[in-house]
Amino acid sequence: MYGIIATWRMALEGITEADKMLKEGSSAGDAIETAVKAVEDFEYYKSVGYGGLPNEEMEVELDAAFMDGTTLDLGCVGGIKDFANPVSIARKLSKEPVNNFLVGAGAEKYAHRHGFERKNMLTERAKIHYHNRVVETSANTELKPYSGHDTVGMVCLDCEGNMTSATSTSGLFMKHPGRVGDSPVSGSGFYVDSNVGGASATGLGEDVMKGCVSYEIVRLMKDGMHPQQACEKAVKEFDADLKRRRNKAGDMSLIAMNNKGEWGCATNIEGFSFAVATENEDPTVYLVKFDEDGKQYFEVASKEWMDNYMKTRTAPLVRK
Ligand code: GLY
Repeated sequence: MYGIIATWRMALEGITEADKMLKEGSSAGDAIETAVKAVEDFEYYKSVGYGGLPNEEMEVELDAAFMDGTTLDLGCVGGIKDFANPVSIARKLSKEPVNNFLVGAGAEKYAHRHGFERKNMLTERAKIHYHNRVVETSANTELKPYSGHDTVGMVCLDCEGNMTSATSTSGLFMKHPGRVGDSPVSGSGFYVDSNVGGASATGLGEDVMKGCVSYEIVRLMKDGMHPQQACEKAVKEFDADLKRRRNKAGDMSLIAMNNKGEWGCATNIEGFSFAVATENEDPTVYLVKFDEDGKQYFEVASKEWMDNYMKTRTAPLVRK
């Protein structure tokens, strides 16, 4: 059995490519890196890689991680600037005996030394978003972080039973320079153990980190839960806990897959989508919906939804 699952519709093209690779016997490491890179390279996704939205000083700072669920090797970068594919740098770091998590200038020096592609990640479109946000908030004087957090997070299983997880994000739009979210933090943004399965998160990093939610899902799967049950239990209980203690809970959406290729997803927001492909299922985008009793269910995205998604993402932007 093989498979790959990822947060958000934006992962579809990447997981489609990964699905083909897995079918032909590629490793979970190569397949997931290829899938995440496809998202990082697409300039219209404004929260990952090239085209990602900048911090309050108009600089794009990127976070990414890679974990091998068989060796438990992990590599992470935080606040890295001007490199095309942070996930590849994270993967390379995962092979190091120490110094696996590098941030800022240290991460950039490492990437430079190892020949990773340099690229100015700030697009003209991202500059317009920045400008418009400054104009919109000038009346309030304070720049507020953007409320969307569309990190790409994935879990992958190959035919040999090896599993990986990887994430990539530009984090919060208008974040403070140096702010790092959950995405490169093991147990929070991602976790994978080939003996069990893996999970990955998107949402408000500051809250996801309070509950180490990815690790919690893997732990529940280790206790025998199906990925769907594990995701629902972890997200529901932690969302309620945050609300009890703090009166609010940030956005939190998790995807998971176990080492049999069974998968699950849970969220505390409206409008979440995810993409999945397995040996038994062609690449598919699901939308997460809630019924009148607040029970979550999935719907396959319609052609109209898919067309509209791309139209909205690529629509011309007007400078205010
Ligand atoms: N989940 C991404 C972030 O908070 O940076």
